[in-house]
Amino acid sequence: MKVLGRLLVLLTGGMALIVSVMVLRFYKSIPDIAAVQAHNAESISLLQRDLKEGLAFPKEFFWGSATSAHQVEGNNTNNDWYVWEQARDKNGRCRVRNCDASGAAAEHYQRFDADFALARNLNQNMHRFSIEWSRIEPKEGEWDFNAVNHYREVLASLKRHGIRPMVTLHHFTNPLWLAQSGGWKNPKTIYKFERYVRFVVEQFRSDVDVWVTINEPEVYAVYAYLYGIFPPGEKDLTAMLVVMSNLLKGHARAYRAIHELYNVGADGDRRPALVGLVKHMRIFMPDDPGSSADRSAAKIYNYFFNVLALDSVATGRIQFNVPLVYARDEIVEGLKDSWDFIGVNYFSRDMVAFDFSRPYTLFARITYRPDRRRYSEIGEGWEIFPQGLFQSLMTLKRYDRPIFITENGIADAGGALRPSFIGEHAYNVWQAIQRGVDVRGYLYWALIDNFEWNMGSSPRFGLYTVDYQTQERRLTAGGELLRDLAAANALTPAIQARLRSGY
Ligand code: BGC
Repeated sequence: MKVLGRLLVLLTGGMALIVSVMVLRFYKSIPDIAAVQAHNAESISLLQRDLKEGLAFPKEFFWGSATSAHQVEGNNTNNDWYVWEQARDKNGRCRVRNCDASGAAAEHYQRFDADFALARNLNQNMHRFSIEWSRIEPKEGEWDFNAVNHYREVLASLKRHGIRPMVTLHHFTNPLWLAQSGGWKNPKTIYKFERYVRFVVEQFRSDVDVWVTINEPEVYAVYAYLYGIFPPGEKDLTAMLVVMSNLLKGHARAYRAIHELYNVGADGDRRPALVGLVKHMRIFMPDDPGSSADRSAAKIYNYFFNVLALDSVATGRIQFNVPLVYARDEIVEGLKDSWDFIGVNYFSRDMVAFDFSRPYTLFARITYRPDRRRYSEIGEGWEIFPQGLFQSLMTLKRYDRPIFITENGIADAGGALRPSFIGEHAYNVWQAIQRGVDVRGYLYWALIDNFEWNMGSSPRFGLYTVDYQTQERRLTAGGELLRDLAAANALTPAIQARLRSGY
């Protein structure tokens, strides 16, 4: 018995040693954060500077805002989010904060024309919105031409208002029939997505030159398959990695399909389509910079969240290796360089601590310290950190692609924080442009208040805030600031002075 006991101890010890060595090797194999994240930014705050001159943006810079279908249209009842909003978890709790549901949302499906007039009043010359797949293809293989006509009218309205469209083909929601057949975990979805993209692009190519294939594949994969806070609510690292890779494959096919359909200027305007991927950029830093465990945790998060998707597109090779969990190394046809621009959604930074009790999030935890850092009113996860936009842009320089800021915004029901939020972020964009980053436009999130996914209807991101009882839109101070910034195409001395005086 004694011998058996010793043998068991030896065996378990040996296994533990092997696992630790594998984990350590894995941690070591990931490039250090300093190598992949441009941290060498000076601390830049517009408000602390007293600049005499205006800071001009490039000629033909685009100023605008963004929305996504499910978040503003209302009455989207045929997708996985609708079902999720009605569902309860195993403890009977709602999936969405306060048991909110998107419902009528901002009724943008009916009010788009008036909303674009509001955007025009803010001197916007670009607007990003998404087409709802479940409206266009309500049942597999069946196209709804009423929905097609609706989006045709949306595009015509933008044109009348002198606003260039940027159209997103996938923004988090999936038709119910697709979700029921396994969603993005099922590799067949890649081809179903391509079929939908081809249909949509054939319908609208004469009116759209700037396309986004997929919004934030990394957020979708992590929230829906690792954190379980988006449908289908899984918490499975392998599933997350599978979904991430299927999304990238879907993106690659969509990219090639759109270019194929645009051969020889199909829309007659002789401008080639610009097709991009929207990447949510976050800054990850160690909670305690003196702790090597925290530094490792931050670099792991940065790697999985920021580097993986970008490097996969740049190299055409999807390569993950999480020891004992999942490994993949695959050259994907058509993926290499499948972006004419990179869309950047930037909101915040995360401080990361090593946490041994969390193997399923790779032993890392994001810390929340309102005593030390400035947060927006929705708190955790929403630190206000404008320098992070500059750092993200500097990091992206290595991919050598034009960049649009496709989302940047703050939930601010009171409206007092938004002007400086916009001013500071615009200043960081300007700084990056001075250092040679090719930024083509800045689109604020969002034009009007939106249904904020798992956080429901209370966060107020809109440049126009919406009274959901009356559907009345009211311009915020942040909207006024962006209006003046767009008109001048510069952070003029007057705008700077306004910001310094607290607006
Ligand atoms: C998403 C939007 C969302 C915004 C604010 C982005 O990650 O694309 O849908 O509303 O962040 O959370």
